[in-house]
Amino acid sequence: MHILTVETSCDETAVAIGQIVANRVKILSHAVASQMKLHSAWGGVVPDLAAREHLKNLVPTLEEAFRKAGFKSAKGGFGKIKLIGVTNGPGLAPALITGLNFAKTLSFFWGKPLMPINHLEGHLYAPWINRDLELGLRDRIFPALGLLVSGGHTLLIEMRDHLEYEILGGTLDDAVGEAFDKVARIVGLGYPGGPLISKLALEGDPDYSFSVPLKNSGDLNFSFSGLKTAVLYKALTLSKNKSLKEVLGRAPKPDLGIKLTKKQKADLARAFESTAIEALKLKTLKALKRGGYRSFILGGGVAANSLLRERLELSINEFDPSIKIYFPKKEHTGDNAAMLVPPAYLRFCRDKKISSGKKYFDNWKKIEIDPNLKLH
Ligand code: KG4
Ligand code: ZN
Repeated sequence: MHILTVETSCDETAVAIGQIVANRVKILSHAVASQMKLHSAWGGVVPDLAAREHLKNLVPTLEEAFRKAGFKSAKGGFGKIKLIGVTNGPGLAPALITGLNFAKTLSFFWGKPLMPINHLEGHLYAPWINRDLELGLRDRIFPALGLLVSGGHTLLIEMRDHLEYEILGGTLDDAVGEAFDKVARIVGLGYPGGPLISKLALEGDPDYSFSVPLKNSGDLNFSFSGLKTAVLYKALTLSKNKSLKEVLGRAPKPDLGIKLTKKQKADLARAFESTAIEALKLKTLKALKRGGYRSFILGGGVAANSLLRERLELSINEFDPSIKIYFPKKEHTGDNAAMLVPPAYLRFCRDKKISSGKKYFDNWKKIEIDPNLKLH
């Protein structure tokens, strides 16, 4: 069974073609047109600009996905597709609308069923891609604990089975990826901050330290806004060339104009990264201690961070080596459409069982975007 998926929730236009073979997800192609360079001039994603770029990129990205999957063109290959999956939230409304309308058009003209997918669910299913991880191996995987770390979310999620989610904890303010991006602006690195901060942190010395937010809070929540502010104050104290009022009043730009030496930047990056990761690790272990989890799943853009992977792996193995750890491949950590294939397939199978597929006749008419779509 071939599945085509479309993702436009933020600043990547992505299309993938996957095939389900003997209960395994094989990705035949995944194409991503990134807009990062465009948005980096503003220090973050500008929603209307993102939507305009998606409109430009959707058809070429679709063609690229078909070609990479071994078809001559979309026109020649669409007959193979049995299902179309599309992100309908959460994300930026103007960006989501472009992808959903595109997928609706394909569904209407090609006469294929359309499946709306939660973007967060996609991130959680990224470790299932091209792996020896059968969708049917329920007994070995569930109950699973998921940690979703991206630019918009920081969530601890319990999965008792496929497509079943219970949120155990989340961030009270900034998401962890957002904090990486903001700290990158403070030390003048540009956007997106995560990879730049973690690269620079490798050159840093442990000269500064920040306290781990909500360390003893007793719950499974996170907070990264205070940590980001602590980095800002430290940077202002070190530099002395800007006042707090000046940096807060600055128009959107990739940096705040705080002058720091290369060493100060690297030391700040190291201290921030280490503290943020410690917070993620502590709450993950706290959640695992609730007991009974067979596996741990990591997903989202920040899952690309090597230090996070190392520290999680080490501490989970130390706590209970029988817990299986599933990390996504790095190419599937950021926004992509390949991660939508497993949930699209699972939802289709489940719904088909319930309704013998009737609900898919012209179902594209009923699907709407939801920028605040929750995972449940
Ligand atoms: O999942 P994603 O691509 O988009 C959202 O759904 O938000 O995540 C993007 C976030 C950005 O904040 C980016 O800075 C962060 O992931 N990120 C990283 C790394 N690579 C990307 N954060 C820390 N370390 C990285 N290596
Ligand atoms: Zn994402």
